[in-house]
Formats: sequence, structure tokens, C-alpha cells
Amino acid sequence: MSDKSGANAMWGGRFAAGPDAIMEAINASISFDKRLYKQDIEASRAHAAMLAACGIITNSDARAISEGLLTILSEIEGGTFEFSAALEDIHMNIEARLKALIGAPAGRLHTARSRNDQVAVDFRLWVRDQCDAAIASISALMQVLVAQAEAGADMIMPGFTHLQTAQPVTWGHHMLAYVEMLARDKARFADARARMNESPLGAAALAGTGFAIDREMTASALGFDRPTANSLDSVSDRDFAMEFLAAAAICGTHLSRLAEELVIWSSAQFRFVIMSDRFSTGSSIMPQKKNPDAAELIRAKGARINGALVAFLTMMKGLPLTYSKDMQEDKEQVFDAADTLMLSLAAMTGMMADLKPNPPALRAAAGAAFSTATDLADWLVRRLNLPFRDAHHVTGALVKLAEDKGCDLDELTLADMQTGHPEITQEVFAVLGVDNSVASRTSFGGTAPANVRAQVERWKEVLK
Ligand code: ARG
Repeated sequence: MSDKSGANAMWGGRFAAGPDAIMEAINASISFDKRLYKQDIEASRAHAAMLAACGIITNSDARAISEGLLTILSEIEGGTFEFSAALEDIHMNIEARLKALIGAPAGRLHTARSRNDQVAVDFRLWVRDQCDAAIASISALMQVLVAQAEAGADMIMPGFTHLQTAQPVTWGHHMLAYVEMLARDKARFADARARMNESPLGAAALAGTGFAIDREMTASALGFDRPTANSLDSVSDRDFAMEFLAAAAICGTHLSRLAEELVIWSSAQFRFVIMSDRFSTGSSIMPQKKNPDAAELIRAKGARINGALVAFLTMMKGLPLTYSKDMQEDKEQVFDAADTLMLSLAAMTGMMADLKPNPPALRAAAGAAFSTATDLADWLVRRLNLPFRDAHHVTGALVKLAEDKGCDLDELTLADMQTGHPEITQEVFAVLGVDNSVASRTSFGGTAPANVRAQVERWKEVLK
């Protein structure tokens, strides 16, 4: 949109020549903010309709604007629209094209509006859509994990603390731990969505406008609950993007932890799971290798989302009210984080749907390393009425004895056991098995298969 001197027609009155090429390169955002085209057109159409309804522009101008914008929408979606860096951003690219298409009425669209409230509303609409997409993708992953939990409700595996074998648990219980985490992620996106659902459109540059506009009308046309209440805040607020990034970073962290478990579990040392070929790759030199690349990449992509959050917070932290051009740097971080999260969720969903646990290996590992020592201590408390601290001490001595003899706890003789406490009976051996151990953990939230099955039913209901 330059006149003959090369000066920009939007604010060219004051400028003698066009921008330096480097200025254009640093200033233009069209290369990335073109992703907001749909939101920009939607918001402009709502604005034009409102201007006409309020008698600020004529109905025929509003109609021409609206039809012109729809033409532009199909040009962009059809790949025939020519984006220009000289026109800086998506807002000016679209407005310039509107002028070319419909002439004079195009110039009336920007009445009672500024690019500051325009970009704020476009970006909010985009982030709001991403919250919905994240919620849907997380739900899909939860469903796959619930199916894994159902199939392995009583499949015994070791539970770890410090990555040391701790107590036997079930595969189903482990899967449902991630379902809980993902449910919180989903709730975070839903909370953020509810909070961001106010329309900044009509705040104009920063102070509001003297035109008798109807902000309720544009807010409701765009699916917002209400207009934002302070014009300064409206154009300077990016909390909605920060909340999205924070929710994405936490979710990415959860995915990264599961990915890390898959990397460990699929190793030859663990053999807890068999990953499908669809999500693994081979080595160019070692023919036997099957590498868990998708899991490793999900683990790494969490870092990228965290980086986006930190970059965004740092970009905002020193900005005075209201809009500063710094805020043009808000979009790439959010676009990249959103793409990264969606890809990670899709890959994890595919991987977990294909994943085959290996019950014999899981069971063998669950019984190793004296994993039922706590059950022995609990038995001493229950049957011999020892205080737990004493029972812990006796059990520790028996673990030491088994270690010295190179056997498991349940391979000690009764005489061995009685060196720990003379009143120990044969009955103690019943609690040393992994099945009994797991079945006994019936406290609410515990790993007993009956609990897991009940939770599976609950989640199936929730996710219906
Ligand atoms: N491209 C700009 C951005 O993304 C649009 C807002 C420009 N506003 C302004 N006062 N220069 O932030």
C-alpha cells in the first residue's frame, strides 16, 4: 500500500520514503501472522456488521466489505492470495486487498478500531481454538490409556521410587496415573479458555472510541461471553497466551515423563514393553536395533514448549501499558508451542494404542529386589501387634539375611524367619507373593485390581 514516493499509504503522510529493507525485515510479521487470516476476517466481518447496525457506516458499505472479505478468504484458502512483506502484517495485507476488490468502502472498515484491538481479538480467537484442539487431543490420548488400563487391570509390574524397585503395582494403575495427569491438563486448558473468552474488539488503539459502537454485539458474534472492561488492559493483555503456554508446558512435561518411561521400558535391560514398528526406527549400522525415536522426540519437544513459555514471559515482563511492538513477537512462540504439543499428543496416542506390555517380564521384575518387604512388615504389625517401626527393623534384618543367602524373601525357611521374630508363623509366606501384595492395596486410590477396574469404569463414563 505505497504511493508513488514509496511512502506507506496507511501512515505515509508523515514519511518521505519507503522503509529500508532491513526495517522491513525486522518489522514485517506477515510470514508468520498469516496464520491468523481466518480470525482476522471473521473479526472484521463482525466489526463491519456492528458498524452498520449502529448507523456508523451504511448497510451497503457493510455488505460490500463483508462480501469482499469472503472473497479474500477463498483467495487465501485457494492459495491465490499474494502476501506482501511491504504490507507488514495480516491486517494490512487483507485491508489492502479489500481496497483493491471493493474500492472506497474498504476504507470505512477501520472506523472505531485499531490494529491493537484487532490483533488482540484475532490472536485470542486463535488461541481459543487451540485450547479446544488440545482438549480434544488430550481426550483421545486418555481413551487409549484407559483401554490399556482395562486390559492390564491385574497385570503385575514393579512400582518404582528413585527408579529402584519399591512395591508391586498393576499396569492398569500405572496407566491411570497418566490419565489423572492428563485430566488436570485438560482442565487447565478449559479454565484458560473460560478466562480468555472476553472480546477486546472496540478498545481501539488504547482509550476506547467516541463512536457509538456496540461491543456486546461483536463479542457475541465472535462467541465471546462479554467484552473486556478496560480498554488499556484489552490491548496490552496477553495473559491468555501465557496461560495457554503454561498449560501446554505442563502437558508437554507429562508427555515427556511418559516418553522417558517408554524409552526405559523398551530397552533390552527392562523388556517391559514392545513398541510397534510404526513408531520405532532402525539403525543404519546395527541391524538388530529398534530405537524408540518417537518417544525420544516427544521427550525433547517438551523442552521446546517450555522454551516458548519462558521466552514469552520474558518478552512481556518489562512492558509498560499498553501495546508495544515487542508484542508482535508473541505469535511465533505460541504457534510453535501449539504445533509441537498437538504433534506430541498425536504421536503419543498412536504409540500407546500400539504398545504391547510384556506380562512375564513385568511380573518377574515386580517380584525381584524384595519388593514385598513392606507386606512382611505390615504382617508383623497386624499379626504380632508390633509397632510399625519395630516391624520395619525386623523386616530389614530379614532382607539382609535373604541378601546374604542370595535368595528372595519367600525362599527363606520358617527357621530363618524366626531369627527375626520367634512368633513368626508359616502364614507369613502368603503375604510375600506379588499377587497378594497388590490385591491387598484396597485403600482408596490404591493399586488393587478391584480399585483399578472401578476407576476404569469411572473414566469410561467421564470420557464418553
Ligand atoms: N503486527 C502487529 C502485531 O502483531 C499488529 C499490531 C500493530 N500495532 C501497532 N500499533 N503497530 O502486534
